[in-house]
Amino acid sequence: MNRRTTRTSRTTRTAGLAAIALAGALALTGCDGDKPAASDAGAKTADGKPQLAVTGAFMPEPAMADMAGGFLTVKNSGSVADRLTSVTAAGFAGKAEIHETKDGKMQQVKSFDVPANGDLDLERGGNHIMFLDVKEKPKKGDKVAIELHFEKSGTVKVEMPVEAATHNPQSHH
Ligand code: CU
Repeated sequence: MNRRTTRTSRTTRTAGLAAIALAGALALTGCDGDKPAASDAGAKTADGKPQLAVTGAFMPEPAMADMAGGFLTVKNSGSVADRLTSVTAAGFAGKAEIHETKDGKMQQVKSFDVPANGDLDLERGGNHIMFLDVKEKPKKGDKVAIELHFEKSGTVKVEMPVEAATHNPQSHH
């Protein structure tokens, strides 16, 4: 009886020491992992992240039945850059892509930069959102719900009003 108690307590103590050693190892790992992030944050200004606002969103009433373009401006008043990585509009189109226009031809890109304290402009003749497999051709006055997905800021929902086919806010300047 005595021996068994001794053995049990020794086993318990060994297990306890192992647990402490393991906890120590985890603490060290955690510390190493945290350090670069903490010094990174210290190097940036107080807000330390992008501050995004979407303005001027619109979709010209499309000429084609299953395809539409979308335009907007993303303003970043934060001190850290972000990146627009994708767009979705599940209720409206089967697919949404981000396109740039080069030499009059558009092509899909993986992302658009949103510079720190700067703008990402999606505008006619330039960078734009392309909706494909549109379910129902939208008309002027409609509103299309879309989601913009950013690398750092996550998802931003936008109501994109449908304007006349020739609508171009740039031409008002
Ligand atoms: Cu396009």
